[in-house]
Amino acid sequence: MQTQFFAHINGESDPRISEAAEIIRSGGLVAFPTETVYGLGANALDPDAVKRIFAAKGRPADNPLIAHISEFEEIRRLVSALPPEAEALAKAFWPGPLTIILPAAPSVPKEVTAGLPTVGVRLPANDIALALIKASGVPIAAPSANSSGKPSPTTAMHVYDDMCGRIEAVLDGGRSGVGVESTIVSLAGGTPKLLRPGGISLEQLESLLGKVEVDKAVREKLGDNEKPLAPGMKYRHYAPKAPMTLVVGDPEKTIKRIMELAGPNDGVICFDEYFFRITETPYVRGFGHSSHPEEQAKRLFRILRSFDCLPVEQIYSQCPEEKGIGLAVANRLKKAAGFSIISVD
Ligand code: TXA
Ligand code: MG
Repeated sequence: MQTQFFAHINGESDPRISEAAEIIRSGGLVAFPTETVYGLGANALDPDAVKRIFAAKGRPADNPLIAHISEFEEIRRLVSALPPEAEALAKAFWPGPLTIILPAAPSVPKEVTAGLPTVGVRLPANDIALALIKASGVPIAAPSANSSGKPSPTTAMHVYDDMCGRIEAVLDGGRSGVGVESTIVSLAGGTPKLLRPGGISLEQLESLLGKVEVDKAVREKLGDNEKPLAPGMKYRHYAPKAPMTLVVGDPEKTIKRIMELAGPNDGVICFDEYFFRITETPYVRGFGHSSHPEEQAKRLFRILRSFDCLPVEQIYSQCPEEKGIGLAVANRLKKAAGFSIISVD
């Protein structure tokens, strides 16, 4: 299959939006930009189209997909209950990097929910994404547009690298602004629960909802018999090819430990202020100042991908404090490292 690459899209009236929407309506796959990462979209109401997403990504069938909508009212056809907390979250944070898990309506295909009684819904803050969903006239099921296991794509070229020949089209909307995937919060029963940290912080959720529980899989490695509430959180993910180790604690101490550990064939991910201190290896990437986790989120996946082109044997990384979007950055780093963590404090 020839994958079409639609670059420099000029607003929602660009004719290639209608072309892409026609691909979605006829059961094809279109990758599109969102404010978090690129998504790999199919008609969420067409089970055969949704199955093709799993094939293109090499995604395990038990990992459900998020349904993307372009207007709040469209949520009503996807869910069987809409608690006031969901409306409040939507009002505060949509369009934006937040996915809400709710009881699924019977019409949502089991290919989307992976057979769960719930569905994840998100209204993204990206004009191309919104125009595509609107023009398609259906909700769009979309996981991140990477091959399963790889870091999520934050540019259209990352998508093309992974999906060329497997999907009908890629819409190029430039670099993703947030850089890590949406926050996932479950309102499917009991106390609201954070299943995956992302662009909307735990603190922001709590300011609106009061107490929010944090699923154990967000911060810790689960035992063999434990299951995360978001099935995707159990898979090795975001991982560069070389093994990675996180060094956590006070930045001055962690950088010293990394300088002791790293040899000339190792990679280092550090806060920008330490970049020029690392002379042990040429393979150093600064991922933002230690006080700027938003910048770290933006650069993280691109940096993880970049190591796959370098002859590094082992990667050492610093890690931000787990507050604000720093919780999401730390979560992705831990998963990329397969929870190989050295604590210096
Ligand atoms: O920012 C994002 O959320 C991006 C963009 C494209 O919207 N999408 C994304 O999708 O990250 P994906 O499939 O890569 O990650 C979705 C996560 C998976 O861990 C999946 O298990 C979880 O959401 N999930 C989806 N539906 C769920 C449900 N009903 N209950 C629990 N977890 C769910
Ligand atoms: Mg993903």
